[in-house]
Amino acid sequence: MKRAKVTVPTLMAARAKGQPISVVTAYDATMASLLDEAEVDIIMVGDSLGMVVQGRKNTLAVTLDEMVYHLAAVSRTEPSAHIVGDLPFLSYQISPEQALESAGRLVREGGAESVKLEGGRVVAEAVSRIVRAGIPVMGHIGLTPQSVHALGGFRVQGRTADAARELILDAQALEAAGAFSIVVEGVPSEVGQRITEAVQIPTIGIGAGPHMSGQVLVCYDLLGMYRAHRPKFVKAYAELGDAIVGSVRNYIAEVRSGDFPGSEHGFSMLAGERVEATGGGYGPGDES
Ligand code: KIV
Repeated sequence: MKRAKVTVPTLMAARAKGQPISVVTAYDATMASLLDEAEVDIIMVGDSLGMVVQGRKNTLAVTLDEMVYHLAAVSRTEPSAHIVGDLPFLSYQISPEQALESAGRLVREGGAESVKLEGGRVVAEAVSRIVRAGIPVMGHIGLTPQSVHALGGFRVQGRTADAARELILDAQALEAAGAFSIVVEGVPSEVGQRITEAVQIPTIGIGAGPHMSGQVLVCYDLLGMYRAHRPKFVKAYAELGDAIVGSVRNYIAEVRSGDFPGSEHGFSMLAGERVEATGGGYGPGDES
């Protein structure tokens, strides 16, 4: 039996009851189906796809069209998990109207059930505009990858008391603007805890320590498939990268040895049928 759909009210209730929320990214239908079978709470179609799917150094070049494409692949699987779609760089920073238009595309064309954007107080107006149109918004503060150049790299944020205070103010501004949850990325565990204590909505941590309402990991990190870089905060629950390389090596060896395909992988003709010898073979004039 299909489990009940995870919704924004379900997620808010989970925070109120202290039930941890699990979030994993996906960018295609096959992965989304597997995550849903595992009963993850939220499938996040993140702009991290710029790095793990497109092979870029950062997320900045990801377009709204690309987000719609990947979201649609995920949402076609009709998961019970809640689907969050990421607003990519410069699809919401120009004006609250632009933010609403972009969010609307993720919902109408991609099938997102909520949208995520990066920033704190500076995006509060955009959050409020989107929320007023009936689209739930997830914030994202701390290490915000779309600001990689301003941050001087993918660096842990909130390491000083002043910086931590700013992050708490950002979280409170997002909550006041109507965000239903906030991703907190790359901050000291103590800061993650303080941010969680400062708001009522779910906080979803990635490299933010254990005192959060939930945790998010990129699917290829969780499965040990992204080998370019493994950050400290990642726990790989499998080494599928090794399993894939080993399996493909076995396949190549069997293709070369002739062991694959075996007779069990082939098809037979209908009973009583057989191929007649064609005599002289195919030659000029045989096309007619
Ligand atoms: O883009 C993404 O996948 C994300 C999560 C890792 C939080 O923002």
